[in-house]
Amino acid sequence: MQPETRTPDVFPVKGVDHLRFLVGNARQAAHFYSTAFGMRCVAYRGPEQGFRDHAEYVMVSGGAKFVLTGMVHAGAPGAEHVTKHGDGISDIAIEVPDVDAAYRHATSTGARGVTEPYDLKDENGTVRMAAIATYGDTVHSLVDRSGYDGPFLPGFVAREPIVAVRPKRFFQAVDHVVGNVELGKMDEWVEFYRRVMGFTNMAEFIGDDIATDYSALMSKVVADGTRKVKFPLNEPAISQRKSQIDEYLEFYGGPGAQHVALATNDILTTVDAMRGAGVEFLNTPDSYYDDPELRARIGQVRVPIEELKKRRILVDRDEDGYLLQIFTAPVQDRPTVFFELIERHGSLGFGKGNFKALFEAIEREQERRGNL
Ligand SMILES: [Fe+2]
Repeated sequence: MQPETRTPDVFPVKGVDHLRFLVGNARQAAHFYSTAFGMRCVAYRGPEQGFRDHAEYVMVSGGAKFVLTGMVHAGAPGAEHVTKHGDGISDIAIEVPDVDAAYRHATSTGARGVTEPYDLKDENGTVRMAAIATYGDTVHSLVDRSGYDGPFLPGFVAREPIVAVRPKRFFQAVDHVVGNVELGKMDEWVEFYRRVMGFTNMAEFIGDDIATDYSALMSKVVADGTRKVKFPLNEPAISQRKSQIDEYLEFYGGPGAQHVALATNDILTTVDAMRGAGVEFLNTPDSYYDDPELRARIGQVRVPIEELKKRRILVDRDEDGYLLQIFTAPVQDRPTVFFELIERHGSLGFGKGNFKALFEAIEREQERRGNL
């Protein structure tokens, strides 16, 4: 027998606990995520509960939890975040079994502590929390909710859904959360997650080979040992056109969370429902689907390609299986945060093959117009 060579897990995690969105108007955002994303509003906290600064709506879809936080008066904490970044993700909260140990490990390995461990209590129990800083003005709250049984966190009250609840969930979980960082900083943040959380690099890597010609970005993925928490990190790449990452950094006012991928088990139905509710998705040219190489590359998938083409859903395949994915347009006025829907069939990837295929398809169209 070989001795166990794996290093002990220095920073065990249970998963992504919730994402906090700081927004200009949480009441209206809650309506949007109810109608357009099929999420259910389950909890609320605001002035009525004695929290004078914020109105906060908790939205769920399966295991995915969003907290929408709006400021109810000038100068409330978080107001400057919205002024600087627009609506955005301020907190990617991680559920951990031991907040104190996680916070101690993180701060002793170079993470900046934002909030020391403390207890949040009400009649439903106690949640232990702390927070550390990550890229830009984004933080990771660390949450141990094992001593709590209530609607979200102590202080929140259960509330009725905002609109009639859909019979079928649009998505079941947060698959991954992508961060955009400045040119030259990607490896620093990969190293941060390795050192602070013991995360390791996943195989998928978008590097010089396709970055500069096609995607104008470089990307690496870090994940915990169980692959429950996956954080791709992008930086801009030098290319002839302005990188989409540069555009994000300019309009967000620095590094931040770029997109949240939502895991669905029926992407066709979900895309139809979201489109029907007014969500805009990125368009994919016909040439992507008509490329004989695509058909060879993806092989057999669960639906005919025509069904994917109709909805502009992308496909990628690797040695483990395949995935179906589609990206929304930005969901606020600034060209910053957007969403991805992802339906996995074995593949643990993130759609790397689509970067090249998509950009080649776009170039073919450009060529046809005589613009290449
Ligand atoms: Fe993604």
